[in-house]
Order: sequence, then C-alpha cells, then structure tokens
Amino acid sequence: MNTRACCIAAVPGVAPPQRETRIGPIVLATEGLSKTYARGGWLKRRRGDIAAAADVTLEIRRGETLGIVGESGSGKSTVARCIARLIEPSAGRIVLDGEDIARLDGNALRPRRRRVQIVFQDPYRSLNPRRTVGDAIIEGPMNYGATRGDALKTATELLGLVRLDARALDRYPHQFSGGQRQRICIARALAIGPDLLIADEAVSALDVSVQAQVLALLDEIRLRLDLAMLFITHDLRVAARVCDRVAVMQQGRIVEQGPVAEVFGAPRHEYTKALFAAVPGRRLGLRQRRCTSCLAALVHVVILPLIAQERVLLVTLEPRLRQHADVGVQCPSSTARSSAPLRSSSGRAPFAPVRPED
Ligand SMILES: Nc1ncnc2c1ncn2[C@@H]1O[C@H](COP(=O)(O)OP(=O)(O)OP(=O)(O)O)[C@@H](O)[C@H]1O
Ligand SMILES: [Mg+2]
Repeated sequence: MNTRACCIAAVPGVAPPQRETRIGPIVLATEGLSKTYARGGWLKRRRGDIAAAADVTLEIRRGETLGIVGESGSGKSTVARCIARLIEPSAGRIVLDGEDIARLDGNALRPRRRRVQIVFQDPYRSLNPRRTVGDAIIEGPMNYGATRGDALKTATELLGLVRLDARALDRYPHQFSGGQRQRICIARALAIGPDLLIADEAVSALDVSVQAQVLALLDEIRLRLDLAMLFITHDLRVAARVCDRVAVMQQGRIVEQGPVAEVFGAPRHEYTKALFAAVPGRRLGLRQRRCTSCLAALVHVVILPLIAQERVLLVTLEPRLRQHADVGVQCPSSTARSSAPLRSSSGRAPFAPVRPED
C-alpha cells in the first residue's frame, strides 16, 4: 500500500470494529464524583464556581476500555485527574479495588497512587528534555523502592513492548518523533505496574497513521497486561476503535453510557446525537468505505486500462491516420503526439498497454 492509501486506511470510522476482550472484575468505580473549581476573587467566589464534574458515576473492569467522550470543556480531564488523585474531588467516592481513595492523602494515598497512571496528550511536554529516556522510565519504580538494576531491566522490557529499541534508554526525548515519544510515555506509565491506565487525549496530537499505531499498541497492552483502561477523547471515531463501553459527558455530567456499539449505533441522548452530527466525514462508515474501495477498484481495473487501451489504439491507428493525413484528412491527436515515439523498432504497434504518465 502506498503512503496515501495507508493514511486513508488509518482514518477510523465511527463503526466499532471487532475486538478481543476478556472482561474481569471491577478495578475502579466512581460514585457521585464531583469537582467544583472556584472562580473569581474572594468576593464573588460562590457565584463564579465552575462545576467541572458533577455526580459522575462509572465503573471500569479489568481488561476493559471505558471511553469518555464529549466536547472541549465537558469535564473529561477533570474526572481523569480526580480518579488519578492529581486533584482533590469536591464530593463523591473513588473506589479502587473496593477501597474509597477519594479522601486519602499523604502516606495513605502513596501506594494506591501507583495503581492509576496517566498518559497525557502532549508527548513533547510530558518528558523532561534534560533527562534520558532511561532515567524517565526508571524514576517511578525507583521512587517505589526498586533498585536501579531492576528498574533498568523492566525499562528495557517495556521499551520492547512499545516497539522501541533498547538503545533508546540512553537517548534524549528530542531525538524521537511524536509517536515514539508517546510510546516512551506509555512505557513510563507502565513501569510502575498500574491496574488502571488512563489515556487523556493520548493520540490527539499525532497524525492519523501514527495515531492508528499507538491505538493498536494501547489495545495490545490492555490485553497482554490485563489492564483496565480509561480512554478520554473528543474524537468519536477514535473512541469507536478502542473502547468497549463509552460514557458521554456534557457540562460535567454523564448524559449517556453503555456498550460502544449501542451508544454509537443508536444514540439516545440529544447531545450524543449532536456530537455524531458534528463528526467530520461520519458517513465514511463501513458501507461508505467499501464504496470508496469499489470506486478505487473501478478506476484501477476499468478506467486506467481503458486510457491505456486508448493509447494503444492511437498507436495502432497512427499509421493509417497518417496515411489519411497525407491525403488531406486531419487527425486531431496526430499533431499533438507527432513527436512521441509511436512505433516499436519493428515498425508495429506495441501490444503492452502503455502506462499513463500521470
Ligand atoms: N484548574 C482549573 N481552574 C478552574 N477551572 C478549571 C480548571 N481546570 C479546568 N477548569 C474548567 O473546568 C471545565 C472542564 O475542564 P476539563 O479540562 O475537564 O475539560 P475537558 O473535557 O477535558 O476539555 P478538553 O477536551 O478541551 O481537554 C472547563 O470549563 C474548564 O475551564
Ligand atoms: Mg481535557
């Protein structure tokens, strides 16, 4: 396949593909999770509050990918940051393997924190440019007591898992492409042995073909490591590709959730329908892609050979047309093509179809 065909094939459709899943017990559940940001000065504190997440209730099972979709500002990252305990939730429960971690802090939170890891959108800003890839990956495990030797061994294995050479350990982030950096970020997140991996717009900064590779990698990692995955994206086509279930967020609330085939196949909430209406090229579903392929086949199998045949025909007719021209009959193409080598050296028309130059 040429580059253009690869890129077109990499654009996901909104129809969910068949995926292998082994769904296990619940790893994480939120109940009534809310986060309110205070806005403005102390005088108008109450009036300006932003309910970034309100009453969010969801669960994620081992081996499963739950997607959160919604427009920009709908509260997706806020929910993710609360779950990873990067920010304090204002209310509600975050139950990790049966234990509520929403109010834990300090030493009590530390061992639980490692079980939830996030990969962020921007692979360029996620890595310290002054630290080697190896140092970035082993930092987490060493903070949790691993020896440098053990951590390096794990880092080497993880680089293999994300399809990077072990020599990457000694190199710096600027020596890698965006897709490779995102793989490094995934390896770093996995180094600490999480049960839940959160990908917050983790492929949004990548071009479509690299995006497709990273999505496939995340899906493979989920299966191999039996991880629970929370996949946050504003792109419904990306969600359709990797999610088992999906929650749709609008203004901090989940308005609809369920198996991705159900929610995407027959959206019930008006907001979900509006999101679908906004998907660019959403008609490029399975049937339409088949049509595009049919069109391409038609062009290659019928139209291009016809053009080639037309040229052969011209080559074949040329001597006769010249004869007519000699007796005063004009051939429109003969003048334009008069400089082209129309005959084979034997003087007969070549039988091989002529390839169109354009
Ligand atoms: N630290 C903050 N202080 C105040 N308001 C915030 C803060 N972080 C987020 N918000 C607000 O909370 C709301 C939800 O933001 P959030 O980042 O969760 O949205 P999102 O769905 O992740 O958007 P995007 O798709 O653009 O990343 C927005 O209105 C945002 O302005
Ligand atoms: Mg966000």
